[in-house]
Amino acid sequence: MIGGYYIAAEAGNSPKFPSFSTTLALNFNLKVRPSSSKSTPRIRRKSKSTNSTTKRLVPVINRGNNNTNQKQIMSRIGVFPAAGGLGSSILTHLLDLVPASQLTLIARKPDSLSDAAEAGATIRYADYDDPATLDTAFEGVDVLMLISYASFEIEYRVNAHKKAILSAQALGVKHIFYSSLGFAGNETNKTSVAHVMGAHLATEKFLADLPGTMTYTVVREGLYSESFPIYTNWFDLRNPVDEITIPHDGSGPGVAWVKRDELGEATARLVARYATATGGNPAAVEEFPYVNKIVLLTGPKVYSLSETVGILGRVVGKDVRIKRVTVDEYAAFDHKGLHTYHGVDLAKEWATAWEAIRRGETAVVTPTLKDILGREPEDYETTIRGLLV
Ligand SMILES: NC(=O)c1ccc[n+]([C@@H]2O[C@H](COP(=O)([O-])OP(=O)(O)OC[C@H]3O[C@@H](n4cnc5c(N)ncnc54)[C@H](OP(=O)(O)O)[C@@H]3O)[C@@H](O)[C@H]2O)c1
Repeated sequence: MIGGYYIAAEAGNSPKFPSFSTTLALNFNLKVRPSSSKSTPRIRRKSKSTNSTTKRLVPVINRGNNNTNQKQIMSRIGVFPAAGGLGSSILTHLLDLVPASQLTLIARKPDSLSDAAEAGATIRYADYDDPATLDTAFEGVDVLMLISYASFEIEYRVNAHKKAILSAQALGVKHIFYSSLGFAGNETNKTSVAHVMGAHLATEKFLADLPGTMTYTVVREGLYSESFPIYTNWFDLRNPVDEITIPHDGSGPGVAWVKRDELGEATARLVARYATATGGNPAAVEEFPYVNKIVLLTGPKVYSLSETVGILGRVVGKDVRIKRVTVDEYAAFDHKGLHTYHGVDLAKEWATAWEAIRRGETAVVTPTLKDILGREPEDYETTIRGLLV
């Protein structure tokens, strides 16, 4: 135990989800697919042909518009924003799990969703920065996947989330999945020294305290493997330096890095399972273990920042080391606006992330991702090498 957190646990304390993907596949005749090696997911409009092994699991889901049987048993799923790395990944995997006609996809650039529209999804416009657009965005949606506003502020971001949640409630959404973040240690912990976690914890609390019948599932998405630049003073695989200057010496508890597309896949599976179960059989919601709960999805292993940098160096064929600097020194570097939000430089606030890592907030491993995927999550080095392909 370090700072009250369980370090590199073999098993977290999330509710057990035995053989989730297989169960889902068998219950709902879905196909268990191998991991995709793509780092940027693309929408697939047609299901792939199947081999003899998968045929048994595939036949029922019809991805077209006329599957009335599915319409009877499925809740309508909304995704907002259906854009960006995580949103696009969730969408891609949802399209493998449910008919496109059951999806309402909301984004501030609806044109980017034309493939999904052609496949039968309903597309709508909304913008977190224009709150009035959220007043009608979730009409007809039963289960909403709400992806956090991409920012590093606290108040502005929380207000954006609150507005979306209250609009969803007013429009009759029954259940919200909210994408939170993997700081704060295990899922029972509700505090963090990381500024970046502030808006997520406040949103989690808002959901938990919300009166009424709308339920929620918070998915704490672990730290993306691909997000190493923000923890390494913008280390660039294609233009690598040999010294990384951060306010951390690289030792001690590290990060259970996790591939973003595997988070998207697991999150989509949770949403699809909830929507499918509750649409057809209200009692089945009892079997969904994450109603009004927090789920923590992490990678399979914790890497210290030194180990992380060692892997980055190995991938680029260079001896890379960490040079510890003070927070003030870090904040004074030229970050080319990358720590600036609505005109305010939050570099010092960002530095609290290293303090959180030092305290073990990101050094928790849960089995949940593996259970949901039905396979070992991809290891860190494989993901990093994949970024250079
Ligand atoms: N778990 C982690 O390690 C980690 C790492 C980084 C970030 N995050 C957070 O997780 C969430 C999802 O991350 P991500 O990787 O998908 O980020 P991302 O790739 O930057 O995508 C965010 C998307 O949000 C959309 N967006 C931005 N402002 C919006 C607005 N005002 N209204 C509606 N949509 C808006 C943008 O879509 P368009 O430009 O197409 O409109 C953008 O593509 C974000 O909150 C992000 O800050 C998590």
